[in-house]
Amino acid sequence: MRPGLYNISNEDGCGMLEDESVDVIMKDGPYFLTKAEEYRVGGDSQKTTAFGEWDIGSSPSIMRLGIQEDYRILKQTGSLIIWSSWQMLPEILAIAEESGFFLKRKLTWCKTKASPMFANMGFVHATEDAIWLTKNKAWTHYYHKGMESSNNYFIHAPVSEPGRFHPCEKPVSLYYDITKRLVKRNAGSVIVEPYAGSAPMYPVAQSLGCEYYGFELNSHYVNLATKRRGISNVL
Ligand SMILES: C[S@@+](CC[C@H](N)C(=O)[O-])C[C@H]1O[C@@H](n2cnc3c(N)ncnc32)[C@H](O)[C@@H]1O
Repeated sequence: MRPGLYNISNEDGCGMLEDESVDVIMKDGPYFLTKAEEYRVGGDSQKTTAFGEWDIGSSPSIMRLGIQEDYRILKQTGSLIIWSSWQMLPEILAIAEESGFFLKRKLTWCKTKASPMFANMGFVHATEDAIWLTKNKAWTHYYHKGMESSNNYFIHAPVSEPGRFHPCEKPVSLYYDITKRLVKRNAGSVIVEPYAGSAPMYPVAQSLGCEYYGFELNSHYVNLATKRRGISNVL
């Protein structure tokens, strides 16, 4: 399998990767926040629990199989980062631990300039959470010699640059900040982004001298990400 951005499912993509061949999986799949039947709050048509097409995807049982695949493809020293809503993370963590993973840390993205959607409700939703999982309990070999340790919160502005197209883009700078602590620069490490969306891990992989495998089901997103990131190997 050649590195690149693939217009295929996470399940098909990961299925093609060899056992213990991957250093980092940056997983930002559907959050399952959209209710089966969209409903309106207080008659205001803007306030809805339907979060858009990106949020609709595999069920938690398929997610379990996905995490087992993550375990298969990750190297012994590899890292799995899973972003999700705080409501879903406990269930995801339980599935990951059953699959053999160890929880290292919860990571939090603190957003500067988070857009107030319901200003009159008082508390702006300005954080997103992830869990960092590994196949081993050991600590030290995940850090590079000379790299200072960091807090488990990362302060970055949401993406606002021209060209933004995906409803839930993660900033490249946020992913870079996390990933630079998990791989050795220019060591040919392998990065997988199984729900690529706008493919923010592609430039991160390029900066760190890593191989990139991205999987995204929606061909529209694949086309836009290709143009935006200057991706030449679209498969
Ligand atoms: C939360 S978004 C990812 C956003 C991405 N992190 C970014 O910064 O642009 C989830 C993405 O997963 C895609 N998706 C949903 N189910 C999928 C599947 N089974 N395989 C691959 N992609 C899938 C959706 O089309 C959506 O673009």
